[in-house]
Amino acid sequence: MKNKIEQLEKLREESKTGGGEDKIRIQHEKGKLTARERIQLLVDEGSFSEVDMFVKHRSSDFGLEKQKYSGDGVVTGFAKINGRQIALFSQDFTVFGGSLSETNAEKICKIMDTALKLGIPVIGLNDSGGARIQEGVNSLGGYADIFLRNTLASGVVPQISAILGPCAGGAVYSPAITDFVFMVNHTSHMFVTGPNVVKTVTHEEVSFEDLGGAETHATKSGVAHFVFDSEVEILENIRKLVGFLPLNWKDNAPDSKFDFASNLINEKLDNVIPDTPNKPYNMHDVIQLLIDDGDFLEVQPNYAQNIIVGFARVGGVSIGVVANQPAVLAGVLDINASVKGARFVRFCDAFNIPLLVLEDVPGFLPGTEQEWNGIIRHGAKLLFAFCEATVPKVTVIVRKAYGGAYDVMNSKHIRGDFNYAWPSAEIAVMGPKGAVEIIFKKEISQAVDKAEKLNEVLSFYIDKFTNPYIAAERGFIDEVIIPRETRLKIVQAFQLLKTKVDSNPKKKHCNIPL
Ligand code: HXC
Repeated sequence: MKNKIEQLEKLREESKTGGGEDKIRIQHEKGKLTARERIQLLVDEGSFSEVDMFVKHRSSDFGLEKQKYSGDGVVTGFAKINGRQIALFSQDFTVFGGSLSETNAEKICKIMDTALKLGIPVIGLNDSGGARIQEGVNSLGGYADIFLRNTLASGVVPQISAILGPCAGGAVYSPAITDFVFMVNHTSHMFVTGPNVVKTVTHEEVSFEDLGGAETHATKSGVAHFVFDSEVEILENIRKLVGFLPLNWKDNAPDSKFDFASNLINEKLDNVIPDTPNKPYNMHDVIQLLIDDGDFLEVQPNYAQNIIVGFARVGGVSIGVVANQPAVLAGVLDINASVKGARFVRFCDAFNIPLLVLEDVPGFLPGTEQEWNGIIRHGAKLLFAFCEATVPKVTVIVRKAYGGAYDVMNSKHIRGDFNYAWPSAEIAVMGPKGAVEIIFKKEISQAVDKAEKLNEVLSFYIDKFTNPYIAAERGFIDEVIIPRETRLKIVQAFQLLKTKVDSNPKKKHCNIPL
């Protein structure tokens, strides 16, 4: 037995060195960690249990039969994050550039299948040259097997992708189907076709970084949800994100400890927004005063900044925050903000994470650019997402709630559970100036002193509509609250809503306007 154990230990050691010490050195010289170092940083110490470490590829073309590595370029298994079980795979760039072979894909599919049965999240650490070229259609088929599983697991267990190196070709579509994409500045790249192909086809000269670097995907394309400067920060923040999530769609996210006897009245909220209705302010200041310990994990912080989305806790309950940002484009809803908000709302709804909506929105952004690019169907995504969401939904109208945006931002009419408004709320079909120019067009044009008439009808309109009381009279607002009471109200609301049950009609699946 002793000899056999020694032999097993030798085989294990061999598998753990991946493509060998030289390749590991090159990986480190590029500023990257190895597949196993990443796992160590991601999971609870000693919790990783590896599977398939002796799997080898079966290919014999291009002399591959002479290059076999135990594990075949991906480390897979199960581990814990803060004591909670997860499944993971970590591509090993030291073996054929982490490229995806048939067997490598089988390993990934195996842990995904098990994760679905167990109801646990799947975390993929990607660092790969894409489909293993020597294996041809076998490696392409391997990707398709993964895409299918990503799709079937969507909405069943959370799926998180970290891009820690190249991610090219169709390989980008596995991360794209998952719920969240993390990218590291400067060392990770994602593109469907690389700079050389771009040059051949479109004659554009573009660098790897500009085409598909983290900055590009965080600001321009919206593909990356989280970007950090180092792999260590990426792995720390995946741990943090997992803490806000349930293990699967039937589970609830874990509550954190909360002292319900603590003071929940905060006078600072009374002065957090300016007295002048058109003056911008930073909605982050409001969020910070409302959530537990000011601990906010913002999603896509640098994309469509006119809407803020992210995870926080209120009274210990993990919630998703969706807030208009008056400091950017006056908080207007445009195409990118609608899509960003809709995707986040749908994630939260799929995984039983209650929603807190902080509303200050002047409406949808007008203009040909928006109309021609489809603000109608993209705006409809946000509307659809809030309408179909059955999780606890709480709205606080902080200031403006104009036009269709009033309906969209989790109004009472689309199943908002508790809809509060501050006394500063302005709820109407249109902003005052636009509205009076339409409904008092004749009176203004016929008046001797047009400016005086305009001012007169403006103040009439403002008196009548720029307040929350008409909506409160109808019951569209449950309560007009003093800002300082808001944290108390939302802590109570999310506790009360813990037993909420709601559902949608049975169907094969919905047809969200894509
Ligand atoms: C086989 C690969 C490989 C691949 C890299 N390698 N990509 N082997 N198949 N796809 C190998 C290299 O031969 C090399 O082996 C080692 O990995 C490291 O690669 P380098 O080129 O030396 O590293 P680096 O300079 O860092 O460049 C990394 C890279 C580059 C940018 C990823 O290797 C590259 O461009 N690879 C091809 C990317 C690509 O076009 N893939 C196909 C995409 S299409 P040695 O033995 O020398 O160390 C696709 C289809 C998916 O993926 C479809 C799904 C629908």
